[in-house]
Amino acid sequence: MRKTLIAGNWKMNLDWDEAMTLFANLVKLEAENHINVEVAVFPPSTYLRHFYELKKGRNSGLGIGAQDCSAHESGAYTGETAASMIASVGAQYILVGHSERREYHNESNHSLSDKVIQALKYGLSPVFCCGEKLEDRENENQTFVIDNQLDSTIFNLSEEDFSKVIIAYEPVWAIGTGKTASPEQAQEMHSFIRGLVQSRYGHDVAEKCRILYGGSMKPSNAKELLSQPDVDGGLIGGASLSIKEFAQIIDSSV
Ligand code: PGA
Repeated sequence: MRKTLIAGNWKMNLDWDEAMTLFANLVKLEAENHINVEVAVFPPSTYLRHFYELKKGRNSGLGIGAQDCSAHESGAYTGETAASMIASVGAQYILVGHSERREYHNESNHSLSDKVIQALKYGLSPVFCCGEKLEDRENENQTFVIDNQLDSTIFNLSEEDFSKVIIAYEPVWAIGTGKTASPEQAQEMHSFIRGLVQSRYGHDVAEKCRILYGGSMKPSNAKELLSQPDVDGGLIGGASLSIKEFAQIIDSSV
């Protein structure tokens, strides 16, 4: 049985006070037993250490992760943060290959593979994002695009390493647009992805692999999306910035 993961991708939002309030509210929600699934947040990485301390002090099981890491080990890469550094401040996850990084920072399959390797080397679970653009979907190329994004990156990993990876399917046309994939579209793609995992790593690995859906998930559509058999959680952007909406999504997943 795969454990549902509800993850909040805060992107470049929330100043220190706002971020602390939101995280403290989540910890409170958890302490009041309102959280029955795995929940993680991906704040700007400057906040991670403080979140870690707060978590530790309250015995919280909330997960924390960074939104990106360097493809390099260390050295003269101004502005970058190494996976080892992210691990050393207490994070457990790293988002790799979010479409905004692919689009605005020209991240290639090659550099994404290196990022995944760095993350795994330091004990972090990569949440590897894939997703097709609108034109790919309009041309019915979506499965080809996803196959390519996975085949040239995480499918090069050993079975042991691959089993630490979480996949997030995020159709680019649904991110931040208010347009969501229908539950049928999401299920169809998630089941396609699980089939790819099965042909590469076999049935048992595929059955254990968690595949999250991301792209305008909100309280009004979360229940239907999350009840699809191959949707194992959500990667939520906009709606994760409001404690009320995020809590409603967490509730819908039980
Ligand atoms: P959204 O973002 O929920 O605001 O569409 C999702 C994401 O980018 O991970």
